[in-house]
Amino acid sequence: MTRIEHIGDATLYLGDCTEAFSAIGAVSSVITDPPFEAEAHTLQRRTLGRGSEDGRRDIQDGALPFAAITERERSGLCQWAVGSCSGWLLAFCQAEAIGLWRRSMEGAGAKWRRTGVWIKPDGMPQFTGDRPGVGYESIAMAWCGQGKSKWNGGGKHGVWIIPKSDRGQGHGGRANEHPTQKPLRLMSELVSLFSAEGDLVCDPFMGSGTTGVACVGLGRRFVGAEINPKYFELACERIAAAYAQGRLFA
Ligand SMILES: C[S@@+](CC[C@H](N)C(=O)[O-])C[C@H]1O[C@@H](n2cnc3c(N)ncnc32)[C@H](O)[C@@H]1O
Repeated sequence: MTRIEHIGDATLYLGDCTEAFSAIGAVSSVITDPPFEAEAHTLQRRTLGRGSEDGRRDIQDGALPFAAITERERSGLCQWAVGSCSGWLLAFCQAEAIGLWRRSMEGAGAKWRRTGVWIKPDGMPQFTGDRPGVGYESIAMAWCGQGKSKWNGGGKHGVWIIPKSDRGQGHGGRANEHPTQKPLRLMSELVSLFSAEGDLVCDPFMGSGTTGVACVGLGRRFVGAEINPKYFELACERIAAAYAQGRLFA
């Protein structure tokens, strides 16, 4: 690890999460938004393209500034979580990758529980026009704890309909500086439903730290890792700002 920051009840590691796992130790739940598979990164490159002068969209432009997830990272995360996490392992992914995540989670010994869905009513249209746009992300959900899984949602559906543009309260004034920043309201709902007050929640691919900001607002402790120094700084600033704002959510 090149750097470790302690901010309130949050500990942030700058570096590769697979190297941080041994230092992170035991956690209550893992709620994370890793890079997608290589195929989805190609699609993202297309849909993130800038508009050109004639008003059309240049679909060759706009590469994401981080690499697609690797098998080593996915299986490393699942194996670590099974040994260190006493509750939920939730990972965002594209629908086509749910089978890969399920195999990695079950292969490591976690109990597969559900595919959740985040519906983005304001998701990107399909600029090529030759097929439907996506408009949602999947969430692979497995239980790493002992006995039966439990969450705080009772019989609710695992479906969240939240606009991408809904940054919620308390984003630390730094919304949109990470290219795939999750809405704070979405991460707050997941943290609230899949952990308890005082729990230690881990996001090993934390980006700009939205999961950590949600944890501060909800009275959870947080531990996160981020490999890119620019996003690590952003996460530090947002989490510090969240502590300065105090608890916003009941
Ligand atoms: C999809 S983004 C997370 C965005 C985040 N949910 C937010 O709201 O800002 C995934 C992040 O994982 C980081 N990353 C990729 N590989 C990593 C690794 N091995 N260890 C730690 N971070 C990694 C990327 O730099 C990127 O910022």
